[in-house]
Parts: sequence; C-alpha cells; structure tokens
Amino acid sequence: MPSCLICETPIEPFLDFGPMPIANGFLSPEQFKDEYFFNLRVAHCPKCSMVQLTELVDRSRMFHENYAFFSSTSAWMQRHFAGFASFVRDRYLASDDPFICEIGSNDGIMLRHFAERGIRHLGIEPSSNVAEVARERGVRTITEFFDEDLARRIRDENGQADAFLGANVMCHIPYMHSVIEGIRLLLKPAGVLIFEDPFLGDIVEKTSYDQIYDEHAFYFSVSSLRNLFAMHGMEIIEAIPQHVHGGSMRYVVAHQGAYPAGDSVHEVARREAQLGLETPECYDRLRANVERSRDDLRTLLQSCRDEGRRVAGYAATSKSTTVTNYCGITPQLVEFISDTTPIKQGKFSPGVHIPVRSHDEFARNYPDYALLFGWNHRDEIMSKETAFREAGGRWIVYVPRVEVVS
Ligand code: SAH
Ligand code: TMP
Ligand code: ZN
Repeated sequence: MPSCLICETPIEPFLDFGPMPIANGFLSPEQFKDEYFFNLRVAHCPKCSMVQLTELVDRSRMFHENYAFFSSTSAWMQRHFAGFASFVRDRYLASDDPFICEIGSNDGIMLRHFAERGIRHLGIEPSSNVAEVARERGVRTITEFFDEDLARRIRDENGQADAFLGANVMCHIPYMHSVIEGIRLLLKPAGVLIFEDPFLGDIVEKTSYDQIYDEHAFYFSVSSLRNLFAMHGMEIIEAIPQHVHGGSMRYVVAHQGAYPAGDSVHEVARREAQLGLETPECYDRLRANVERSRDDLRTLLQSCRDEGRRVAGYAATSKSTTVTNYCGITPQLVEFISDTTPIKQGKFSPGVHIPVRSHDEFARNYPDYALLFGWNHRDEIMSKETAFREAGGRWIVYVPRVEVVS
C-alpha cells in the first residue's frame, strides 16, 4: 500500500483515473509510440488529512527545456500577479533593501514587478525555456529545482529573505519536508512565505477533478497545511481565497509566534469543516460526482456527434489531459483544440491525440460547439469570443456541472 508523503501513514486511493499521460506532454506523431503513462490515483491521508497522488512522475519528465506552460499567455493572470506583487510589497516588505525569492517563477510574470522597481530578487525555475524568457525581461533567475540544499546556497550567497513566494508550484513538489526546511532557514525571523495553489475546498464543491494531474502531487487545505507547517515550527497566519484557476487559496506562513494568526485562517477552517474535508465520506461523494460528470459529458458529446455537430476544444490546458483521457474524448468527438501557445500548436494532445491548432483556425471556421477546457479563464475567454456566439456558436462547460451555455 502506498504511504503518505507527509506523515508516512498507509493511504488508499479514493479515486482512480486509470492510465494517464503527462498533462503538458503535447507531442508529434513520431512520439506516439513511446508515450509515457502512469496511474493517476488520488488518496486522502486519514492521519494528517493531506490529499495527494499515490503514484508520482519523475520531475525530469515534467519540467524541462520544452515546458509547455508560459504563465503570461493569459492577460488576466498578468493582472492577477501584478496584484499579488502589490500585496507582498504593501504588507510584507518593510525592511531596508529587502530580498525576495520565488519558486516556479516561470516567465517572470510576478517577479518582473519587483525587478522593475530595483528590488533584490531571485527566481528559481527549473524549466529552462520559460526561465530564459524571464531573464530576457530582466528577472534574475536560476535554472534549478528548489530544495533544502539549494536554500542553503541561496542564503549563503544572498543573505536571508523577507519574502518567499510561490504560485501554483508548492503543490507540485512531493518532497515537501525538504522544501519547507529550506524555506525556514532562508527566511528572516520576520520573513514570510506567501503561496497560492488550487484549493481542495473548491475542487470538492465544484467537482473540478481536472485539477488532478501528474504535476499536482498535493491538493491543499488549511487543515492539512497546518499539520505540515507545525512539523517545521511554522504556522499559517492568513488564508485568503482567490478566484483564479477555478478557486485558489493564498496562504501567508511565518515562523511560529512571529505574527498573530488572523481570523481568515479560522474562517477557512470553518468552511472546510462544513465540507467535511477531513472525513472519508467527503471523498466518496467526490468520486460519485466525478463519475457522474464524466458520464454526462460523454453523453453530451456523443449526442453532438450523432447530430452531426462539430465540436472543438477551447484551450489545451494541462487540466484537459485528465478530462479527455478519463472521459475517453477522442478526435471523433472533439475535432481539434484551439490554443494560443505557439509550442502547443501543430502538436497533439497527450494520450487521446487531438490536434492542437491556432486560434486563427478556430475563428476561420467556427465549430457548432466549443468545449471550454480553459473554464478557469471563462470570463476572459467569453468576453473576447462574442463573434463566436453571434455566429451561433455555443459553449459546453463541465465545471461545476456539464451544460451547454448559449
Ligand atoms: N508560478 C507560475 C508557474 C506555475 S507552473 C504561475 O503560477 O503561473 C509551475 C512551475 O513550477 C513550472 O514553471 C515548473 O518548472 C516549476 N517547478 C516545478 N518544480 C519546481 C521546484 N522543485 N522548484 C522550483 N520550481 C519548480
Ligand atoms: P492553464 O489553464 O493551465 O492556465 O492553461 C491555459 C492554456 O489556455 C494555455 O495553453 C493558453 C490557453 N489559452 C488560450 O488558448 N486562449 C485564451 O484566451 C486563454 C486565456 C488561454
Ligand atoms: Zn499523512
């Protein structure tokens, strides 16, 4: 039986998606025969409450010189990170000559707001292609995986940090104890860790099971993180819900006793208790909801096909890999996926091999339905696709439930 990555208690999966490819592993036809698959399964630890994958993919298969996700492709996410940077500057950078680190800094979407103001900073980004874009923007970046050893080196070369940031990356790192020890020794006594990740409460409430994929080793909640940080003499002092990525949480974490814990942490803990996030029944319900969502989506796509309607996917998100593979969405059901990322275009989606095409091709010959794989960017996408609607196009969404939106 697998054991918990945090507390080593034996854990049993509550949901099994079957064989899955790498979520961001867009590929060309000559790579089909060597495509890598692993078993995507997720479990809840009865002791420390951490929800996690039970089989992990080697990090070198996911984060490398051809990493397909460039953070700055979404204009709304650019705005979000400008806001995140001001939050850090306004609340937590009181010292003279502050120093800031960010892990998973990608193309510099957040750190540029510090670089532009001459604030000392360091990005730690193992995927060299996205790191290079950050450097071109003037963001100081090293191409490394963060862990405790690297933290010591950074501290010895730069001194301790006032703030340590991470967005959509803490949940990617299975060796959490090394990461948190590293952060602890890197932070000044009044320094803070501020990070955001998809929130387990939203996944449960919205049945957004497509957040579950290889890169996301953990699905965090205040209750599981409290246990984890307590093991390292740290505590959560703020928990602030965010709308991005279909529902995320921003956590501010400090050395134990350095700051009073705010009401926001208790409020989120109360919401978690109402959802029953620490009980096995919650995960039985989630599994039933996921299975229903899969059946509804398959039925809807099949009926579109039977009626001779054309369906295209909109946004080749990493999340879409779980949906297409779990629901058996093949090119017979979805003709192609429109995506604005140049390195995804001309390739095929992982596992089910749906062609990925540019947005121009989508706009040149609108399908009858667009299946919104980028549902987390719904408002941004729908506000710019009014011409598709006016041409009679309709959206298929599946979060929080499967429905056609016209
Ligand atoms: N922060 C950005 C990017 C998130 S994608 C945003 O929110 O848009 C996750 C990023 O984390 C990738 O760029 C990946 O290369 C990086 N990453 C993965 N493992 C890491 C590790 N151990 N240390 C630092 N960065 C890591
Ligand atoms: P994400 O859900 O992991 O942020 O991935 C976003 C993907 O969606 C990325 O490949 C770019 C694509 N995308 C579009 O194609 N059009 C859009 O308007 C937006 C916002 C994203
Ligand atoms: Zn555990």
